[in-house]
Amino acid sequence: MNFSVQSVSKTFGEGRHARLVLKDISLRVCSGEFTAIVGRSGSGKSTLLRLLAGLERPSRGLISMNGQPVTGPGPDRGPVFQNYSLYPWLNLAQNVAFGMDLQGRFSRREIQERTAYFLDVVGLGDRRKLLPRECSGGMQQRVAIARALAAGPKVLLLDEPFGALDLHIRAAMQNFLYRLWERTRLTAILITHDLEEALLLAQQIHVLAPNPGRISHTLATGFNRQDLDKLRFSPSFLQQRQSLAQAMESVEPCADGSQGFRSRREDGRN
Ligand SMILES: Nc1ncnc2c1ncn2[C@@H]1O[C@H](COP(=O)(O)OP(=O)(O)O)[C@@H](O)[C@H]1O
Ligand SMILES: [Mg+2]
Repeated sequence: MNFSVQSVSKTFGEGRHARLVLKDISLRVCSGEFTAIVGRSGSGKSTLLRLLAGLERPSRGLISMNGQPVTGPGPDRGPVFQNYSLYPWLNLAQNVAFGMDLQGRFSRREIQERTAYFLDVVGLGDRRKLLPRECSGGMQQRVAIARALAAGPKVLLLDEPFGALDLHIRAAMQNFLYRLWERTRLTAILITHDLEEALLLAQQIHVLAPNPGRISHTLATGFNRQDLDKLRFSPSFLQQRQSLAQAMESVEPCADGSQGFRSRREDGRN
């Protein structure tokens, strides 16, 4: 599996109202890699994820998977968004089964087996009959991840998946996602404004600078991730976190004269 973004730009609106949101984005994600894209609020992260998912089309450039252009949403790319997007009237198992039902490529029995398997994977095997409203945010997001995985995607696309969760639940979910990745070696692209989250989970991090959104830095991480809770406070981790924060602060205005980085105006919300 090879996911490739080549010189992709995205403009919203036309004429006088045209707004360049992403400019000349290129990146490549290989099979089994965990990649993060970090950027401030408004830098175009969600737009980029929607392009990768095929929910938007690039204005310029090409997005392809295994050499095939991405022209629309498909079961090979499983998106997970910040708001769990579960159907409130379906129980957890029915929510996981729903995406597979739609695809039509799994038999009844396969759907049942995969639903049970992936609910187990996210630790909710014994909660299958609960309705979303009976579950915490962390549980709901695990169901959303199970649903995406059950559909058999070649790449998992995560847009601020833990952004709405309390801090300590977020840390637990980060640990969960990393262990899941270790076990399954799934290919994942995580969009986040949380530098710690990106550093903890990803082997490769792209920084998206705003106005217009463009990749200003790319870095590789090489931590020992045996104990993520220890890693969070280790000197080398904190040092790399600081360098990443500095990289985000040091973005030059765009060469075409458009407005570059706006200092500290934005908070971390997406
Ligand atoms: N469908 C759209 N039409 C017009 N502008 C949009 C649309 N989607 C996003 N934008 C604009 O693109 C910019 C980047 O948005 P977004 O991708 O949501 O950023 P982020 O996820 O990094 O906060 C914002 O200024 C937003 O208003
Ligand atoms: Mg966003």
